[in-house]
Amino acid sequence: MKLSVIGCGYLGAVHAASMTSLGHEVIGIDVDPLKIEALAAGRAPFFEPGLPELLTAATATGRLRFSTDPAAAAEARVHFIAVGTPQLSDAPGADLAYVNAAVDGLLPLLGPGHLVVGKSTVPVGTAEALAERIRATGAELAWNPEFLREGFAVQDTLHPDRIVYGFASELITRDAGEVSAPGREILDKIYAEAIAEGAPVVVTDFATAELVKVAANAFLATKISFINAMAEIADATGADVSDLADAIGHDNRIGRRFLNAGLGFGGGCLPKDIRAFGARAEELGLGDSLGFLREVDQINLRRREHVVDLAAELLGGDVRGRRIAVLGLSFKPQSDDVRDSPSLDVAMRLHERGANVIATDPQAIKNAQLRAPGLPCDALENAVEGAELVILGTEWTEYRELDPRALGARVATPRIIDARNVLDPAAWSGAGWEYRGMGRR
Ligand code: UDX
Repeated sequence: MKLSVIGCGYLGAVHAASMTSLGHEVIGIDVDPLKIEALAAGRAPFFEPGLPELLTAATATGRLRFSTDPAAAAEARVHFIAVGTPQLSDAPGADLAYVNAAVDGLLPLLGPGHLVVGKSTVPVGTAEALAERIRATGAELAWNPEFLREGFAVQDTLHPDRIVYGFASELITRDAGEVSAPGREILDKIYAEAIAEGAPVVVTDFATAELVKVAANAFLATKISFINAMAEIADATGADVSDLADAIGHDNRIGRRFLNAGLGFGGGCLPKDIRAFGARAEELGLGDSLGFLREVDQINLRRREHVVDLAAELLGGDVRGRRIAVLGLSFKPQSDDVRDSPSLDVAMRLHERGANVIATDPQAIKNAQLRAPGLPCDALENAVEGAELVILGTEWTEYRELDPRALGARVATPRIIDARNVLDPAAWSGAGWEYRGMGRR
């Protein structure tokens, strides 16, 4: 099939390359000429495991092209909207400017038989409003949220654990358990491989499809903040939050995943999605229904404050002039994304308080310096040299596997905050380190 993908960021670039690998012919469109230039040359404009190989193979087929010209989508019949919906600069709601611009660019190209497929995360009600404008051209709209995790984006796109289609409710028909809607067959063909592998397909209305995405992210954020609230209690009572998570995680109804206490969640999705969801609920007059998400956000932001305070406490009350190494700048390992990164935030706060911070990261230094130009960053060995405190802020494998004895020989004082609870406290204490975890003995 001939597809266009509007927006070539973490979501769109992976989607475009993945769709090509499934045999489709794809044109990726983005307003950023540098991004398009890199992608057209088969280079990934950001760090995502598996993407460079996928892009090289996909561009070599000649079936994947990129352009900055919205009119280039004219040759496709199916158009995926994969642009960002960041938080508004002055309010908690989502900024829909890019989604609206993508639709504006598509409208003149649409006609009967065309399908627009929304993948961006949007406030509930958005698809309904867009559908009216799209249907005026004779085309149809479907909402097909993406659940990919950065670091696993290729795997999650090619082998999704579920596929959700949202259609205008008045166009959905049910016949002997078979759910049909205009556009369904096209989507089934596009995702034929994943469906054949057994990925469940949920067919529903626009509002539910939009909500599935934000509800999933709100649930995950709540799970993380729940365990971080337990970490606060554990710290005050001498309990151990890692043992607690293991124990409650054995209950299948709860599950162990997303119960890692630490520095909390960040990135381009969870923080902004819970805020946008809360803002949308307020608009609907249902602010109380999602009032708990404000708590989830507060607990999450308190983690950063806690690590900064703990750093000051361990250094005798004042961080000014003290050498601190911050390990990790991306919001999670296997990513160079520093959007709302907890670790970068902690590094910046300590730097702003006058600490002599040197931060490091295997992939994200460039992005961190764009966002925080004043923050000194260097390679791991230089960051730790002479440090009076080491903070592990992002759990990259190379930091999890650090040898406490070897590292002890490089720092000025063997003192560490394991803000992701990934190190073995006994091993580090045994090697002479003053070890502090998050809600851990
Ligand atoms: C998330 C969703 O998982 C994905 O389904 C959605 O499509 C986009 O948003 P992503 O932003 O890539 O994906 O990151 P995710 O793996 O969910 O992690 C989010 C944050 O939570 C990270 O900062 C991570 O460090 C933190 N986290 C995760 C914890 O603090 N504890 C945990 O137990 C798990």
